[in-house]
Amino acid sequence: MVWIKRFLILALIALVVIQFIPVEKNEGGYESLDTFIAETKPSEEAQAILMSSCYDCHSNQTDYPWYSKIAPVNFWLADHIKDGKRHLNFSDWSNYNDKRKDHKLEEAIEAFEEGWMPLESYTFIHKDADLTEEQREFMATWAKAARLRYSGAAQPQ
Ligand code: HEC
Repeated sequence: MVWIKRFLILALIALVVIQFIPVEKNEGGYESLDTFIAETKPSEEAQAILMSSCYDCHSNQTDYPWYSKIAPVNFWLADHIKDGKRHLNFSDWSNYNDKRKDHKLEEAIEAFEEGWMPLESYTFIHKDADLTEEQREFMATWAKAARLRYSGAAQPQ
């Protein structure tokens, strides 16, 4: 049984040591979303849904719960944020051209309708990020209206 004890002590030491590995934080501030919000005009309810379900991985600001600061959870999270932002970053909206904005909204509509976002590994922990059928439909409707602005069609009022 000595080896179990040794193993546990080593594992504990490793766990303590990895806490000191620096991890980049995604804390650029919610102001970075101003352009996106001004252009796509989500209602207050839609904004609340984006905030609780999407911005953590698709904007420059993540709301970190306490456990997400602990290694190795923080490595895993930082990786998802990097990957999520690379594909779609609402904070980067002013740098996207209209074609790209239109395409990203088209994909967001699919994500809402087909239910592949937010990631399951995320809703497993963030229960409030999981969307109901009605919320998905509501968000898809908002994204469809927002798309009109970029596809050259008449703008919604
Ligand atoms: C836990 C992090 C996380 C959350 C929360 C999250 N996403 Fe994602 N999203 C990702 C990652 C990682 C990718 C890229 C890999 C993939 O497609 O699985 C992605 C890809 C996407 C894409 C595809 C973009 C492209 O051009 O390929 C869309 C659209 C999208 N997400 C929309 C959303 C929406 C809308 C929400 C909120 C309802 C959301 N995501 C919530 C991590 C996340």
